[in-house]
Amino acid sequence: MTARALDGQVAIVTGAGRGLGRAHAIELARQGAAVVVNDITAEADAVVEEIGASGGKAVASRESVTSAEGGAAIVQAALDEFGTVDIVVNNAGFARNAPFSEMTIADFDAVLDVHLRGAFFVTQPAWRVMERKGYGRVVMTSSGSGVFGRPAGANYCSAKAALVGLTKALAADGEASGIRVNCLLPVATTQFVVESPLPPADLERLQTALGGVEGRKEPERVTALAVYLASPACEVSGRVYSSCLGRYALGFFGVTSGWVSPGNAVPSPFRHMRPRSAIFEILLILRRNGPGPPLLPEEGERHDPGRQEEARNLVQPPMGEALSEKEPFRGME
Ligand SMILES: NC(=O)c1ccc[n+]([C@@H]2O[C@H](COP(=O)([O-])OP(=O)(O)OC[C@H]3O[C@@H](n4cnc5c(N)ncnc54)[C@H](O)[C@@H]3O)[C@@H](O)[C@H]2O)c1
Repeated sequence: MTARALDGQVAIVTGAGRGLGRAHAIELARQGAAVVVNDITAEADAVVEEIGASGGKAVASRESVTSAEGGAAIVQAALDEFGTVDIVVNNAGFARNAPFSEMTIADFDAVLDVHLRGAFFVTQPAWRVMERKGYGRVVMTSSGSGVFGRPAGANYCSAKAALVGLTKALAADGEASGIRVNCLLPVATTQFVVESPLPPADLERLQTALGGVEGRKEPERVTALAVYLASPACEVSGRVYSSCLGRYALGFFGVTSGWVSPGNAVPSPFRHMRPRSAIFEILLILRRNGPGPPLLPEEGERHDPGRQEEARNLVQPPMGEALSEKEPFRGME
């Protein structure tokens, strides 16, 4: 039999009874890993059977990720059955959407518990094993909702954003001990989406932006990236990747060059703070890096006084007035 990329590796996938987790578990096993298929439902056993039927190695763990004891038991299942743990894919979760004014504390807590605390509870005991052997891969499952926001998701968006923070923190913690930690922003058709669907307008906008291709929402499309991030081939850490309808992209957070207040004077809120719209900041960056789109309307283009005003501001002090006559604003460059 030819060697496979994950031969000898041991993986834990939480929430792997169905949807994305199931697809990750099956592919990890197909690539040679022994897998702990965790889920609170009996679907975990069906996935274990499916993996076994194709010659793979797997064991079910029906513990909930929402307690330290549950997390420890999931990791212990890997140690008992397969002797170690190399990979943790934190995937278990659900949404309980409600407008903010109506969201109950119980629903806020439940969603933070399963996504954020769940990732902590499972990863920490596995981490101790990984640190001892100087190798590990952790994949977090965040969401575009966590980094971009959406209505009725105060609990879900907060939990998913926190997973990005956890990814960055653990990437720094794991740097010296060979542990790489990365984060996914998936989109796939699963029961989760049936229960909390994307608004049709958002889905249409995404499909248009990505070339109008219908479909491409199978969990396996996300799995390809998840399994890569879980493998020894992945050397990057602290990254956030979007896997959306067949497009794979790095997500990032940044700040623009902004306006630097001169000298030691403290700026005043209404004299100096006048951020421009983000789109014009981006146009400015594009223009610096090449010809870019025109900032002022081309001849024949619809007149837009707001846009013209914004464009004019680009060649004037970008934020408010200069702090003092003695230290006039010198421009962005
Ligand atoms: N499907 C998408 O488009 C999408 C988008 C963004 C993020 N996500 C995230 O991806 C992950 C997987 O979602 P999915 O779409 O496969 O959903 P899914 O509902 O099909 O699967 C989630 C699984 O987690 C299990 N689970 C729930 N609570 C658990 C607990 N306490 N302990 C162990 N298992 C538990 C469920 O039983 C279920 O099998 C979730 O974290 C979700 O938030 C999904």
